[in-house]
Amino acid sequence: MFPSKQKDGSVLVAAAVALLCLQLPAVAHGQLQVGFYNTSCPNAESLVRQAVTNAFANDSGIAAGLIRLHFHDCFVRGCDASVLLTSGNGTAERDAAPNNPSLHGFEVIDAAKKAVEAACARTVSCADILAFAARDSINLTGNVSYQVPSGRRDGNVSLSSDAINNLPAPTLTAAQLVANFANKSLTAEEMVILSGAHTVGRSFCSSFLNRVWNGSTPIVDSGLSAGYATLLRALCPSTSANSSTTTAVDPSTPAVLDNNYYKLLPLNMGLFFSDNQLRVNSTLNASVNSFAANETLWKEKFVAAMIKMGNIEVLTGSQGNIRLNCSVLNNGSSSSSSMAGMIQQPTAQRYSGATAWLDDIATS
Ligand code: HEM
Ligand SMILES: *[C@@H]1O[C@H](CO)[C@@H](O)[C@H](O)[C@H]1NC(C)=O
Ligand SMILES: *[C@@H]1O[C@H](CO)[C@@H](O)[C@H](O)[C@H]1NC(C)=O
Ligand SMILES: *[C@@H]1O[C@H](CO)[C@@H](O)[C@H](O)[C@H]1NC(C)=O
Ligand SMILES: *[C@@H]1O[C@H](CO)[C@@H](O)[C@H](O)[C@H]1NC(C)=O
Ligand SMILES: *[C@@H]1O[C@H](CO)[C@@H](O)[C@H](O)[C@H]1NC(C)=O
Ligand SMILES: *[C@@H]1O[C@H](CO)[C@@H](O)[C@H](O)[C@H]1NC(C)=O
Ligand SMILES: *[C@@H]1O[C@H](CO)[C@@H](O)[C@H](O)[C@H]1NC(C)=O
Ligand SMILES: *[C@@H]1O[C@H](CO)[C@@H](O)[C@H](O)[C@H]1NC(C)=O
Ligand SMILES: *[C@@H]1O[C@H](CO)[C@@H](O)[C@H](O)[C@H]1NC(C)=O
Ligand SMILES: *[C@@H]1O[C@H](CO)[C@@H](O)[C@H](O)[C@H]1NC(C)=O
Ligand SMILES: *[C@@H]1O[C@H](CO)[C@@H](O)[C@H](O)[C@H]1NC(C)=O
Ligand SMILES: *[C@@H]1O[C@H](CO)[C@@H](O)[C@H](O)[C@H]1NC(C)=O
Repeated sequence: MFPSKQKDGSVLVAAAVALLCLQLPAVAHGQLQVGFYNTSCPNAESLVRQAVTNAFANDSGIAAGLIRLHFHDCFVRGCDASVLLTSGNGTAERDAAPNNPSLHGFEVIDAAKKAVEAACARTVSCADILAFAARDSINLTGNVSYQVPSGRRDGNVSLSSDAINNLPAPTLTAAQLVANFANKSLTAEEMVILSGAHTVGRSFCSSFLNRVWNGSTPIVDSGLSAGYATLLRALCPSTSANSSTTTAVDPSTPAVLDNNYYKLLPLNMGLFFSDNQLRVNSTLNASVNSFAANETLWKEKFVAAMIKMGNIEVLTGSQGNIRLNCSVLNNGSSSSSSMAGMIQQPTAQRYSGATAWLDDIATS
């Protein structure tokens, strides 16, 4: 690389070094780097953290929303912030059933982007802001600290059909879940590890209603405890399929990122059919058992898996662009540009999980 054999070596070396420096992001083809904005926007990560911290102080449930936003971004066309784009005609990723109305936290990303743009214009991608915000949410709920490689660029295609085709549904079997993650280069163990994110946040009733109701008749799906089913039916009446009612995915500690998810599964208290599928396969089940037994082990692996997930099909270097407004393309071709930032999600219901019942259910 260095032209040391040249007679005018010093000049060439200096030129080569200068060129190398200028091309650093391009040299790291496809590679993200911790501290990508060290010189171009040194406050980027702290500004995002501030926006997340502010939102979390008002609503701790926002952390779960931001973790899921990053996941749903990465699984659809890679981590390119395509999940944030609006279409104006209901055809963007965020309009698709797996995302609408459940996905939330968009306004936090917008607030972070505004702060970052004010500090360093046209420098920090929306995709990186999503990754930082997910990390900060994990930090705030999980007593975990980790560094996020960055340098992602934003994509400009967002199709609801891609979200439907790529996001795992809560009705998937163990084999289907493994295949869905394998398609994103994530292992079966990483699927189990990342599913542990279901230790925070909430779900609309529709995502599990058919596990406890057959029409208006009470039923108990396999792998669901009778006591938990009774609680879920009280929280989610048979008529709640299209209601805005939500319930905690981990009723014991809904705002704490801990290993309770893995402890609840053997108690037949996994909320979704897909959660319980981690128990029916002995390989996946062995991972569940190890994470239930060792929270530190799970957190170490969770952080590593989040970083790997954050690398899915990323755009880097001169690919994609840096969006100025995370919900609209830069040339304003989106018909909804005047609506940017005004799209409101339905008001998130506060957790209605009856924690006091938990001991009874778990021991029944
Ligand atoms: C393994 C396959 C997965 C399936 C089938 C699945 C499915 C779901 C469903 C149906 C909901 C509830 C949505 C609603 O109706 O409100 C949900 C919530 C959630 N999921 Fe997953 N998920 C999976 C994996 C993941 C992964 C990998 C992550 C992140 C690393 C994640 C993070 C979350 C979070 C944090 C929530 C709560 C969201 C909130 O409170 O707003 N999930 N998931
Ligand atoms: C940014 O700075 C941090 C802390 O000094 C360092 O660990 C990281 O490697 C740096 N990243 C880049 C791309 O310069
Ligand atoms: C605070 O959180 C609630 C939801 O819990 C939300 O409706 C409201 O807009 C948030 N307020 C601010 C200032 O973020
Ligand atoms: C929806 O709007 C997008 C642009 O935002 C456009 O490309 C697409 O063709 C439209 N789809 C329909 C069905 O109108
Ligand atoms: C936070 O994690 C540290 C180890 O990293 C541990 O010593 C401490 O007890 C934890 N705090 C809480 C509140 O879990
Ligand atoms: C959150 O992250 C910050 C910055 O990396 C770190 O100093 C702090 O210890 C983390 N908090 C917890 C509770 O791990
Ligand atoms: C598998 O991943 C590719 C690339 O991300 C995507 O185009 C395709 O739709 C995915 N297929 C499924 C079934 O998830
Ligand atoms: C639901 O009820 C119908 C009869 O009303 C029955 O045919 C069907 O098998 C039931 N489904 C389940 C999953 O119990
Ligand atoms: C819920 O909405 C879906 C589609 O929007 C519709 O097909 C279904 O009939 C509705 N169910 C109820 C109980 O209103
Ligand atoms: C369990 O899942 C693993 C990983 O996908 C797979 O290799 C194995 O065949 C499955 N075992 C059973 C009994 O289905
Ligand atoms: C899952 O692990 C439990 C131990 O918690 C064990 O009793 C059960 O047989 C295992 N199930 C499968 C399918 O391996
Ligand atoms: C739990 O996992 C951590 C991290 O891998 C390990 O250092 C520790 O020894 C494990 N604890 C037990 C009791 O196995
Ligand atoms: C789409 O992305 C390319 C870079 O990949 C960029 O040149 C182009 O301007 C973008 N289009 C829009 C409408 O933002």
